[in-house]
Amino acid sequence: MNNTTLHTFVFAIACTIFLGGIFANGVYATSAAKKEVVALDQFHAGMDVTCADCHGDENQRKAVPMAKCLECHDTTELAEKTANITPTNPHKNRHYGTEADCNLCHQQHSKSENFCLPCHARFDFVVP
Ligand code: HEC
Ligand code: HEC
Ligand code: HEC
Ligand code: HEC
Repeated sequence: MNNTTLHTFVFAIACTIFLGGIFANGVYATSAAKKEVVALDQFHAGMDVTCADCHGDENQRKAVPMAKCLECHDTTELAEKTANITPTNPHKNRHYGTEADCNLCHQQHSKSENFCLPCHARFDFVVP
């Protein structure tokens, strides 16, 4: 190899690595965007809600009653926010009105559930 061919060769390799990086990043960005729902504990952490905000300062790591959720969330406002969800409003429903226990559907540390689905196949909510 003379000097010019060597430079061309090195340049070609540099291009390959650079473009490879772009494509790899492109693919990575796509799969990250497709990632479905973030677990609620991570979501809350992102909103500066700490473990103690839900579990208390005594550090009790057990189920958190709905009353705790209501310190930050208002059921009437929630019902208004989701009033247009079809076929029915998950936050204002026939059985519980606006007072269905949040934890029936929303799970903080695991995948949330659609509490209505076992009895009503047509209420196919996707619960965050
Ligand atoms: C928004 C309220 C909320 C926040 C914030 C939260 N938790 Fe929880 N945690 C719950 C609820 C509700 C349960 C009951 C199970 C469930 O719904 O996932 C629970 C249950 C637990 C349990 C009992 C085991 C289990 O999964 O049932 C542990 C341990 C725990 N949380 C640890 C933590 C830690 C550590 C943090 C901070 C990183 C944290 N939690 C933040 C609401 C919260
Ligand atoms: C210390 C305050 C606080 C507590 C306690 C709290 N949250 Fe939240 N939560 C927030 C904030 C802030 C947001 C972001 C703003 C919003 O969507 O209302 C949020 C958002 C959410 C969301 C929307 C997530 C999304 O993907 O849009 C759900 C669901 C939720 N909280 C459920 C709960 C449940 C269930 C409990 C009780 C176990 C709870 N929260 C307790 C502050 C709190
Ligand atoms: C029957 C199941 C169910 C119950 C019970 C429930 N939710 Fe939800 N929640 C949902 C569904 C489904 C959505 C997503 C609505 C959508 O598609 O925008 C949601 C969305 C939310 C959001 C995000 C709203 C927005 O658009 O910004 C918050 C906050 C929330 N729920 C909090 C709560 C709290 C707090 C409680 C208890 C008072 C509760 N939820 C009870 C099913 C439920
Ligand atoms: C354990 C089974 C069960 C669960 C869980 C359940 N339902 Fe029902 N639901 C019924 C039965 C039985 C009826 C018929 C009796 C009546 O109308 O009250 C009904 C009736 C209804 C009706 C009126 C009739 C219709 O089909 O339009 C609505 C709306 C409804 N449910 C919404 C909900 C929502 C929203 C949830 C989740 C928060 C839910 N249900 C959870 C059993 C259930």
